[in-house]
Amino acid sequence: MSEYIIKGGKKIEGEVDISGSKNASLPIIAACVLNGGKSTLYNVPKIHDTEMMFEILKRLGGSVEKKKNKVIIDTSKIEKYEIPEELMRQMRSSVILVGGFLGRYRKAVFSYPGGCDIGARPIELHLKVFEKLGININKNYGNIECFCDKIMGEKIDLDCPSVGATENAILASCLAEGTTIINNAAREPEIVDLQNFLNKMGAKIKGAGTSHIEIEGVKQLKDVSYNIIPDRIETGTFLCLAAINRTNLIVKNSKAEHITPVIDKLEEMGCKLKIEKNQIEINSPKKLKTVDIKTMPYPGFPTDMQSVFATMLTTVKGTSVIVENIFESRYKYTQELVRMGAKITTEGKTAIIKGVRKLYGTTVKATDLRGGAALVVAGTAAKGITKVENIEYILRGYEDFSKKLEKIGVDIELKGN
Ligand code: EPZ
Repeated sequence: MSEYIIKGGKKIEGEVDISGSKNASLPIIAACVLNGGKSTLYNVPKIHDTEMMFEILKRLGGSVEKKKNKVIIDTSKIEKYEIPEELMRQMRSSVILVGGFLGRYRKAVFSYPGGCDIGARPIELHLKVFEKLGININKNYGNIECFCDKIMGEKIDLDCPSVGATENAILASCLAEGTTIINNAAREPEIVDLQNFLNKMGAKIKGAGTSHIEIEGVKQLKDVSYNIIPDRIETGTFLCLAAINRTNLIVKNSKAEHITPVIDKLEEMGCKLKIEKNQIEINSPKKLKTVDIKTMPYPGFPTDMQSVFATMLTTVKGTSVIVENIFESRYKYTQELVRMGAKITTEGKTAIIKGVRKLYGTTVKATDLRGGAALVVAGTAAKGITKVENIEYILRGYEDFSKKLEKIGVDIELKGN
């Protein structure tokens, strides 16, 4: 396993370029199955998770051609619709391919993706969506077979605004007969990006970004080229990195409107943010004020920002309270922060943070993608050297992370294979 060696306390300043959104890229790559032709995607981040999706498409007969700033995906030769188990296990979000295969082939075979580092991550809402659309589901042990002759548009009421279940409902119903309505849909910007991509392909979808989405089935979808939105969680990660280091930073290729709750909380703490069309400049004062955070489905405070934001709060004088309402075990990183001198206690959904003057470098282990990013942010501000192990978790979702950090002054070295 590889590791980062970070020497804390360096002067951090300058500009950072945000990459394309991981969580918009994954469903859009899955949607490329639907046109049985070519899709040219710009701004896809070069990260482990997108590479895994490309690997699955290639295993099933698709082609993926990477050029300088674009990826050309051709799914015309894909005949199989079975997601390889070992790849499914490595990346649970590949379950999003099921909607694409059902939309195009009316068939999909996959294994239960299983839980991950932040919770059980069940998929019963996805299966309920498929059943509602008239798809037969056979479960034999770890394997699930979905099949039907045709998909009929239907009204779907989601029990909870699941991002993945909303995306799978959209993918499976684009080429259905009739219209599908999704109530209580997730409202994330990544779902709006998926709608915009599919409508460019010739789909007829409206309402993404609201709780009510309508998909009018069409017969065929065409070749397309598309530019993916910036990653709002990477944007928030660098804003918090500036705040914990009490410094100024310009975050380019970013859309502040996609992370309004994070911006509002940083301003409540005393940070000054200058927001332009595609960039955010943050100025962090020496003295920051505590705030309380409750993670909620979009447009609430994003759960993916919880760990990095909490880390930034560990050196703010006073007491901050975090409530994690989305995932049941998303506080593992706090034990690692306590080893760096943070004062954090967790009880169920709640974390209580008592600000300390300083964090101290030591050896810590990444436990998941966003928890790992939080440890790196902590290391940049800690006194001494922080070794972050198991950084493969971080490489899943942050493109060129150590290069971007070096460019703004962080003393970081990537060690290992
Ligand atoms: C997406 O995961 C994101 N991943 C997650 O980002 C993000 O944290 C999450 O949405 C919430 O915003 C991608 O887009 C690839 P959900 P997803 O279905 O779709 C429960 C990151 O760090 N649930 O909205 O899996 C579930 O357990 C990742 O980039 C069910 O109970 O999230 C969770 O508690 C982490 N049954 C809640 O709903 C289901 O069938 C929200 O999950 C599905 C979900």
